[in-house]
This record gives sequence, C-alpha cells and structure tokens, in this order.
Amino acid sequence: MSDRLSAHVKPERLLARLQAMARIGATPRGGVNRQALSAEDAAAQAQLAAWGAERGLAASRDAAGNLFVRLAGARPGLAPVLSGSHLDSQPTGGRFDGVYGVLAAFEVLEAMRDAGFAPARAVEAVAWMNEEGSRFAPGMMGSAVFAGERPLQAVLDTRDADGVSVAEALAACEPALAHVPRRGLGGAVHAFVEAHIEQGPVLEREGMPVGVVTGIQGKHTFRVTVQGEAAHAGTSRRAERRDALLAATAMVQALAAVLHDQADVARFTVGRFEVSPNAPSVVASRAVFSIDLRHPDSATLRALGERVRPVCEAHAGPCEVSVERLSAADSLTFPDAMRARLASAARKLGIPHLALPSAAGHDARYLHAMCPAAMIFVPCRAGITHNEAEHAEPADLVAGTRVLADVLAGLAQEDAA
Ligand code: GLV
Ligand code: MN
Ligand code: MN
Repeated sequence: MSDRLSAHVKPERLLARLQAMARIGATPRGGVNRQALSAEDAAAQAQLAAWGAERGLAASRDAAGNLFVRLAGARPGLAPVLSGSHLDSQPTGGRFDGVYGVLAAFEVLEAMRDAGFAPARAVEAVAWMNEEGSRFAPGMMGSAVFAGERPLQAVLDTRDADGVSVAEALAACEPALAHVPRRGLGGAVHAFVEAHIEQGPVLEREGMPVGVVTGIQGKHTFRVTVQGEAAHAGTSRRAERRDALLAATAMVQALAAVLHDQADVARFTVGRFEVSPNAPSVVASRAVFSIDLRHPDSATLRALGERVRPVCEAHAGPCEVSVERLSAADSLTFPDAMRARLASAARKLGIPHLALPSAAGHDARYLHAMCPAAMIFVPCRAGITHNEAEHAEPADLVAGTRVLADVLAGLAQEDAA
C-alpha cells in the first residue's frame, strides 16, 4: 500500500497550499515575514487547521503553541507518528523554510485520506512554535518544550525586543485560534520525520532531488550585554566616556578573529545588534548583541564557546559586560535505521538521493531526544535561504513528499499485527 500511497501525493494541491501560505505575511520582495506568534503566524496556523477541518482531520494545540492535525489511527493505544516543521519565518524569510515540511506532512495525510489508507497508528502533521528564534530567542521553543528539553514556564517568560512575553504573545493569538481545541503537552511519539529545504548548495550541485540527512551540526547561542553610560557627544572627553558601542564592536571584531578557522568550518554570526539610546548625539549607554556559533564537531564547538566570555571581558574597556549562554546543543546523528528507511523508500520510488549533514538547525533535533527521528532534504536554488529570494523547484518538493508518504505509511503500520 505504501508505494501506492505516494502516487496519491498531488503536486498541484501541495503547490497551491504553499502559495496560499506564502500570501500570509508576504513581503514586497517575494518572501514572507511571519515571525513567531505574530498575527501572521496565528493566521497560518488557523489556515492549516481549516484545511484539516475540510478533510475531517482534527486540529489541536498545546500550551506551547504547537499545532497538530491528526489522521486518527485504527489502534488508539499505539503512539502516533509525527511529521512536520514550522510555520514561523525570519523577518525577511523565504517561502519554503519550515512551511514546506508542515505542508508535505499535511499532503501525506490528504494522500492517505484519498487512498482510503487507514493507518494503525495516528499520523499527525505538526507546526512547531517558534523554530526560527528571531522574535523570541532561542528558537525551537515548541519542539523543545514538547520533548521535555525546556521547561514550559521558561519559554512563556521569554521576552521579545519590545518586552512582550511568549505568554502574552500566545494570548494575543488566542482570538484567531480559540476554536482549535487544547491538548496536553508532549506524550509518547513512535517516530518523527521532518521534510525541509536543504538551505545549502549540495543537492542542487549534485543534481539530487532528495537528501537523507545524516545529522545536525551543533549550535551554541549567547546574548552579550554591554553596559556603559550616556554622555553628550560634543562635551564629554574621551577619558570620561564609557561608550558601550565602541566596546561591543571591539568584542565582535576580536571574537571574529579568535574564532576564525583556516578551514572555514566554524560558523560565527552576530545577527542582532541593538544600541541604546540609539541617538546620534549621545554616547551609547548600552549595546546588546547575539552570537550564533556552530561547528560539526561537538568538542571543538564547546572549546570555541568557552572562548566567548573571556574575549568579551578582555575588550570591555571602561564598560561592564555580561555574557548569557542561551543554548548549547551538540551535533547529533540520526539513527541508522531511520536513515535506511528514507534511503530505501527513495530507492523503491526511483528517486535519486544523497546522504548529507544539516548545517542548519531544525526541530528534529529535539524530537531526536524522545523518539527515532529523521529528516528529508530537498534542494533549494543556490543554497539561498533566510532570504526572500529562497526558491525550491516543484518537482523536488513533490519528490521529497513522495518519499515522506512512503516512510510515514510504513511507520504508521509498525507493530500493528
Ligand atoms: C534555523 O533556522 C537555524 O538557525 O539553523
Ligand atoms: Mn527551518
Ligand atoms: Mn530558518
């Protein structure tokens, strides 16, 4: 049945849904701005729930803001199979990052419905809350709470740059989603499979429509706060100044030099930099910046991470600096058995595939902590991503969804006898 199931994947339906989602939070340059728990994010979740309702697939949401659409299983005592990704985006995000994985999973549910396939285990398409970590940091909040890797309260208390907490933002989304029933947090999961665009150039370069992801590289994130003192730009002498901006930029330059590796494997990014009071004639009293540090080798990553605080302290000058570690995730490898499932599904369907690691982070990281997990990649043009120009070819999106359909159908029948 499972190979026949993949034939029920309907390209035009999948692509139409992707286009419809791309209209929610559309930016003038062809991307999306659908940051976590914004009105647009809530509208995207409501849209997914509505599509589920049209097909008799019940939606539910948990206290962490994750949304689930469920195809019930014939054996309710068996743990469900989950598949999905995220609907939130970066401020200038693309039309595929995250949303593809959610809609590929949803397409599989529809294909199962069309095929009259009654799975033994429930199969759920899921949209995890705040994968991107752009508005509320660190990201992957919903999947981390679901997997029991972060306390719910710590996530609810996290605030965005305007001081709005996750709890308040969830409450603001309530009117759009009030009709979607609540469910408990977490619960047993039989297996999780996430489809995603590669966000790198390898599959396109190799002419491969599908990637079987071997694992995810580690990532450590920090928030650095530099405290100086406001002063008049014309009257204050250099010796008197405690210029937070000068100290912070010295730290960034020093970090870039210290973390520089000849082989260009380590990834060091300061993507957010905020200055107060941000007025042309006032010496900056405060600067806050983010650090995103990645390396595929966990020991190397930890060693690089240990250098952040001393480098910042050494360049603080007359200012005070505090370095907060927001997250510290090692690199991980997905189970061989799950990767073999994906590879054999692709082989069976005649879809060329390649094994490759993920340099980007994904919700599958946290699901991996609680159940067998795997990821399917499809190419994206020139590896361009976290960018409004992000593009993926329809044929590849469909190929990835067909592999997903086959794998989910197999997992859903496991232990059914
Ligand atoms: C996910 O978007 C990441 O930052 O890797
Ligand atoms: Mn993503
Ligand atoms: Mn992303």
